[in-house]
Amino acid sequence: MTRTFWVGGNWKMNGSVASIKDLATTFNAGKTPADVEVVIGAPYVYIPLLTDTLRKDWAVAGENCYVHATGAYTGEISPEMLADVGAKWVILGHSERRHILNESSEFTAQKVVKALAAGLKVALCVGELLEEREAGTTQVIVNTQLDAVVSAVSESDWANIVIAYEPVWAIGTGKVASPEQAQEVHAAIREYLKAAVSPKVAEETRIAYGGSVGGKNCKELAQKPDVDGFLVGGASLKPEFLDIVHATQ
Ligand code: G3P
Repeated sequence: MTRTFWVGGNWKMNGSVASIKDLATTFNAGKTPADVEVVIGAPYVYIPLLTDTLRKDWAVAGENCYVHATGAYTGEISPEMLADVGAKWVILGHSERRHILNESSEFTAQKVVKALAAGLKVALCVGELLEEREAGTTQVIVNTQLDAVVSAVSESDWANIVIAYEPVWAIGTGKVASPEQAQEVHAAIREYLKAAVSPKVAEETRIAYGGSVGGKNCKELAQKPDVDGFLVGGASLKPEFLDIVHATQ
């Protein structure tokens, strides 16, 4: 089967009303290849503005969510609230939440379950630290991060999950993984899914690469058979993101 190419932007804690209006104008003027799905992840406070101003063939994502629909959880945002303001996706398990905010794989898995139940699709981030790669434990780390979600969701849930492999040492560093490095881990993730879930899920689940993706390196990465898209940080805040959307052209 041909997996639809998936390109996500992760604005992280960046943006302003003015900058988002400018960027939406730029993005709205661009073309999107028919077989490419585009999602923009934005800070909670800007999601309504983005759903109002961004082209309707692109989707909007939250960058996190909590594990309850409502309640006394000061400062938290529920997946239901994201859906209520028009978000269709949510990014979960980002390494900045795992390593800066100490979120466990089990907590991430709980979020995945709640987000799917609220009707959101999930971009599930996994990836190793530099020292874990240097120790030769990349696949163990990635598989362990996936184990928690595999245990929590049903086989059919995987139709609404994109896996984003983001080597932490490549995030925001300019040190993009080589196409060979990305392909190696993506292929191993697909083999993991085949054994842990099913051959169908392994074949159909899109595995996106994230970590210093830019207009200059995206085309070579996109040519790898198990690279089904990108999750883009810094470059998604620039017109350059349109080049990445066209990486397969
Ligand atoms: O979630 C995507 C992000 O972690 C990658 O950031 O700036 O290296 O593209 P960047």
